[in-house]
Amino acid sequence: MALKIAVSGKGGVGKTTVAGILSRLYGREGKRVLVLDADPASNLASAIGVPKEMRGRIVPLSKMLDLIEERTGVRPGSSYGGMFTINPKVDDLAAKYAVEGKDGVRLLVLGTISTGGGGCFCPESALLKTLIKHLVLEKDQYMIMDMEAGLEHLGRASSRNMDVMIVVVEPGMRSLETAEKIKDLASQIGIKKVVAVLNKASSVEERGLVEEELRKAGLPLAATIPYNRRLVEADLKGVSPLDLEGTEDVVAAVRDLKDSLE
Ligand SMILES: Nc1ncnc2c1ncn2[C@@H]1O[C@H](COP(=O)(O)OP(=O)(O)O)[C@@H](O)[C@H]1O
Ligand SMILES: [Mg+2]
Repeated sequence: MALKIAVSGKGGVGKTTVAGILSRLYGREGKRVLVLDADPASNLASAIGVPKEMRGRIVPLSKMLDLIEERTGVRPGSSYGGMFTINPKVDDLAAKYAVEGKDGVRLLVLGTISTGGGGCFCPESALLKTLIKHLVLEKDQYMIMDMEAGLEHLGRASSRNMDVMIVVVEPGMRSLETAEKIKDLASQIGIKKVVAVLNKASSVEERGLVEEELRKAGLPLAATIPYNRRLVEADLKGVSPLDLEGTEDVVAAVRDLKDSLE
């Protein structure tokens, strides 16, 4: 089986945490895993255990000016009056530019293509969108995309060919409202499977309340991840949650999520 999974949700709910753990669990099963970091503020590299020295050297694709110029014919930042190729060659990019984390997980950092709130009609955007759209997975390969909080800019075009959209929510109305919007958008663009994951749950009551709201929104709850302060520590230290003791309950919940996707 090959699977393309997008992880979305409001900022700070735990998208990167979930994407990082999930990808390493697939990696441990011997699956070939490629993760895409589409969040400009993200730290997916540390979440999958890319060593610090290597993390500092990662250049996001959106900042590879020579590459973008070579592939699209126009250098980012130059006048966009000129024509650029809107479907540049991208099939070799993952092999060339992905860095390796733990459990064999490979990471491609996309960087930001937004100028202000929305997307832009610019060469870097053309490259990234084409990449995501035409990424062809081999047999038994998994692709997990850690999305930016809003779905606006990489959103529609890039989410379109995802098999599964995971919407991470936390106990709080704002994240639930965002989840509802994401669900509508996902259905509009034809993603067949959209599931919610409750993260940072600290009581049965909280879970009950969130479940109720998700039911109203028509979003199935695939897993509930407990609040665990060790994750904050992992984040501060730049360590992958799987490499810190005391995170077993969180990892078990992400395993439930993984099983629910089969
Ligand atoms: N289950 C959890 N319990 C406690 N803290 C968590 C949990 N999940 C994530 N966090 C913390 O919340 C913060 C935001 O998580 P992150 O995965 O970066 O969110 P996002 O990618 O959605 O912005 C980080 O400090 C992270 O360690
Ligand atoms: Mg993130």
